[in-house]
Amino acid sequence: MILPMNEGHVAFVAELERLCFSAPWSERSIASELNNEYSLWLVEEREGVAVAYVGSQSCPPEADVMNIAVSPDYRRQGIGEALMVALMDALLERGMESLTLEVRASNAPAIGLYTRLGFTEVGRRRNYYTDPQEDALIMRKELCHADPVY
Ligand SMILES: CC(C)(COP(=O)(O)OP(=O)(O)OC[C@H]1O[C@@H](n2cnc3c(N)ncnc32)[C@H](O)[C@@H]1OP(=O)(O)O)[C@@H](O)C(=O)NCCC(=O)NCCS
Repeated sequence: MILPMNEGHVAFVAELERLCFSAPWSERSIASELNNEYSLWLVEEREGVAVAYVGSQSCPPEADVMNIAVSPDYRRQGIGEALMVALMDALLERGMESLTLEVRASNAPAIGLYTRLGFTEVGRRRNYYTDPQEDALIMRKELCHADPVY
């Protein structure tokens, strides 16, 4: 079940951030997103337990994915895709016209997910990431109600 992130999800999101990323969002930064009208974060719960999240910020009519992560035991079950689809639907409802994200150039699972959803590479930021240093691919998708992908 996909829900908007609430206060009860913040510790989980921060823990998964630390597990997955070398520059994780702090619990405080994540909590502040709850009060940001331009932010939309969604959480997937299984039997009442949070297992994945996606976070976004919008600058109308454009939106950016902040991060997405699925707990290791729940990967490759379609949860990441379902979260991205739910996010795109919700952003469309809010009037957003495009969704942009950055991804490590070596992150094949994430690039596979975004490509499958119709994102295309629109640029590259050299040495954007540290620890380890790596380029970011910039990927974007125009959001459209008639999109056959979702
Ligand atoms: C990237 C991530 C969110 C994908 O979540 P997921 O729930 O496992 O993805 P899904 O099961 O929805 O996969 C949907 C599609 O994405 C692609 N994909 C997902 N994982 C993949 C992998 N390990 N290798 C190649 N393609 C993959 C496939 O096309 C997949 O469809 P398929 O299973 O029918 O082949 C997950 O691997 C994760 O949390 N990674 C660590 C955090 C991270 O790197 N986040 C991205 C930051 S930019």
